Amino acid sequence: MTSEAQLRRDIVDVCKRIYEHGWFAATDGNVSIRLDDGRILATPTGVHKGLRMTEDDLIVVDASGKRVAGARDASSEMRMHLAAYQERPDIKAVVHAHPTNCIAFSLAGVSLAQCLLPEIVFTFGSIPTTAYTTPTTEEVPAEVRKWIKKYDAMILDRHGSLTVGRDVFAAYDKLERMEHVAEITYRARMLGPIRPLTRDQITRLQQVGQELGLPKREVCESCNVCEGPDEGMIRRVAEEIGRSIR
Ligand code: 13P
Repeated sequence: MTSEAQLRRDIVDVCKRIYEHGWFAATDGNVSIRLDDGRILATPTGVHKGLRMTEDDLIVVDASGKRVAGARDASSEMRMHLAAYQERPDIKAVVHAHPTNCIAFSLAGVSLAQCLLPEIVFTFGSIPTTAYTTPTTEEVPAEVRKWIKKYDAMILDRHGSLTVGRDVFAAYDKLERMEHVAEITYRARMLGPIRPLTRDQITRLQQVGQELGLPKREVCESCNVCEGPDEGMIRRVAEEIGRSIR
């Protein structure tokens, strides 16, 4: 069992990493861990979590969100964190950040839900973008509840990311991976039309994932691209586009 003192250090460590990547700006973002007794250890509201937050600044709330320890209020997005914990008894940590490429994709209305890279199929199944909700309000947890049962990572339209995990480093890793996928996808789109994985490739990846003991991921529900053109048609359209830009 990890001590609360160590978990406090873990949150500060993760917040610094997120800030160093540029996925927290100023007082953006929040991180929490569910303690063994069901209370939640969370970042305080309105504090710069990358530069000016120490272990002692963290807040403890009970399962209903009521503050039980700490000098200030917990994050203004605490209800989103609580919703994630309520829907997912299996998770121990929640990370909400403002990753640049993920948010840019949502602003442009471009989905990252397609199976573009093997790591999407292995780690996420899919990366859904939730509907726009007003940050800090009850709208955010209401929307998150629709997705969190099936997905460990999602983009909150025009707002940020939400990732969850068995510990705070697992939730952080999913943020890092999701933003990396977004960055690669952005660069690829700058070079030309992008080619999603084919249905056969996805099926093979799912088989390999099962053999590796990875959790079964929901691939299609937030995407449905595979229901569209078949592989031959995708190739013909790509060739057509290639000819027209040459
Ligand atoms: P808090 O400082 O209250 O956690 O708010 C930051 C944020 O990102 C709100 O969405």
